[in-house]
This record gives sequence, structure tokens and C-alpha cells, in this order.
Amino acid sequence: KQALTITKMKKMKQAGEPITMLTAYDYPSAKLAEEAGIDIILVGDSLGNVVLGYDTTIPVTLDDMVYHTRATVRGATNTFVVADLSFMTYRLGIETTLRNAARLMQEGLASAVKMEGGADIADEVSALVRAGIPVMGHIGLTPQSVHQLGGYKVQGKLPKEAQQLIDDAKALEAAGAFAVVLELVTEPLAERITKELSIPTIGIGAGRACDGQVLVFHDLLQYASPYREKKFVKTYADIGSTIRTAIGSYVSEVKARVFPAEQHAFGVVEPSVEISNL
Ligand code: KIV
Ligand code: NA
Repeated sequence: KQALTITKMKKMKQAGEPITMLTAYDYPSAKLAEEAGIDIILVGDSLGNVVLGYDTTIPVTLDDMVYHTRATVRGATNTFVVADLSFMTYRLGIETTLRNAARLMQEGLASAVKMEGGADIADEVSALVRAGIPVMGHIGLTPQSVHQLGGYKVQGKLPKEAQQLIDDAKALEAAGAFAVVLELVTEPLAERITKELSIPTIGIGAGRACDGQVLVFHDLLQYASPYREKKFVKTYADIGSTIRTAIGSYVSEVKARVFPAEQHAFGVVEPSVEISNL
């Protein structure tokens, strides 16, 4: 399998072929996503919630992102991997932004970076693109700004908000972003933005009209993702209960001295006999 390129993504939009994206955060999740045929893997800073157990993505550091991106890329060597720039890593000036994105590319081995914001980060986006770093934008509900937004709620319901999001999407396209994530926006707004942009839109909680869709690995699989009502998520498996049941069986079998059984145990050999059946 050949990894997708940003050129091919644009062609997929033109051809009306949906782009699939899923988050992954380490070797096994990335390996499984790649084997399942996902188009793009996102090392999202949602790892703060689903892997590190924080309430928000705000405590996630660039070191966390580098560490998880590198592990992810080792599991998905033939997939386009996008890594999130974490909270405040692209808000302290162009030079810092370039330096931080460079770490995700050089140490994390990401293929591209993603950042939350619109017209307000257009200068940072174009500086990265000029430096050869592909940028995915992210507008709508931007979790790094959850306290400013006043919670995890649908964005762009009011005409003025909707217009701002359209302007933001266009500013990202003009700055050279290769795609833009639309998170928790109304379906009509996502449809309008998708039609007005030449770059792909990738939706999460943004309805059916986007050029692609993204979900969080742990949500899709019910893999112990922290509870929050998420109307936009579809769970395709209940891995959490499978794991819990399996661990429960292990615990009770050890307590009952059922495991390990004879076939799991090693016998002794005469000192003169060669040990060959380890
Ligand atoms: O961090 C993340 O998982 C994301 C997606 C939800 C788009 O940014
Ligand atoms: Na994110």
C-alpha cells in the first residue's frame, strides 16, 4: 500500500471519493488502522483525554506529541500521518511555531501538522507551508479553546458565527493549508464550506457533506474513552468490554489457581540433557 499524498487528497475531493481519517496514538493502534485501510492517521492531541486521562487537551505538551507521533509512525509506515500541534505551541510567534512544527516532522516523523484556528493563524500556516511543512487546519469546535468557547457545543449556529467560520476556512485555504477539519458545526454550514473550498474538508460532528470524516480511535471502539455525550460518534465495536471481560477471567483464574495450567509451566531437566524446548 502506497501512502496518500496531499495531491491525491485534492483529487479525491474532485472525484467525490470520501477521505477516511482516524486518530491513533501508538504502535498497535496505528498498525491496526493501517491494516484496516485508513487513508490518514491523525495523532490528535485528543490523546490527552483518551490516553493520558486529562479532562481537556490543554495539558498536552509538544514532548507528548513527539513521543506518540514517533510510536504511531513506527506502526503505520505506509500511511500519511498528521500530528497535532498542541496548546500554545503555535501562538508565540512564527519562529517558535516553525521550531515546534519541525520537531513533529524531524523527531516525530509526521507527514504534516494540524493546528486549531482560522484567519488568526494564517501567518503561521503560510510560514509552515513555505518551509515545506503541510498544514491541516481545524475550525469549529476547537478543543484547545474550550474554556473560551464555554464548553463542547455546536459552532456556527448563528449567521454571524457561520460567516466567521466561512472566512476562517477561506483564510486557511489562502494560507496554503491542504485540508481543514470541521468539528461540531451544523451540516448546512459544513456543506457550504465544503462547496466553497478547493481543499478537502474532513468532518467530525459536521454531518454528511464533508469530503472526509474523522473519528477518535477510542470512541469508535468504545475503548475506555471518557464519558461525554457524543451524538456524532458511532461505535463500531465494544473493545472495552471485551478487554474488561478478558482481564476479569485472568484475575479469577489466577485466584482459583486455574492459570497457569500444566501446559504453561516449565519442567526440570537432568543437568546432562541439553535444554532445547524453552
Ligand atoms: O485531537 C483530535 O483527535 C482531533 C480530531 C477530533 C479532529 O483534533
Ligand atoms: Na486535536
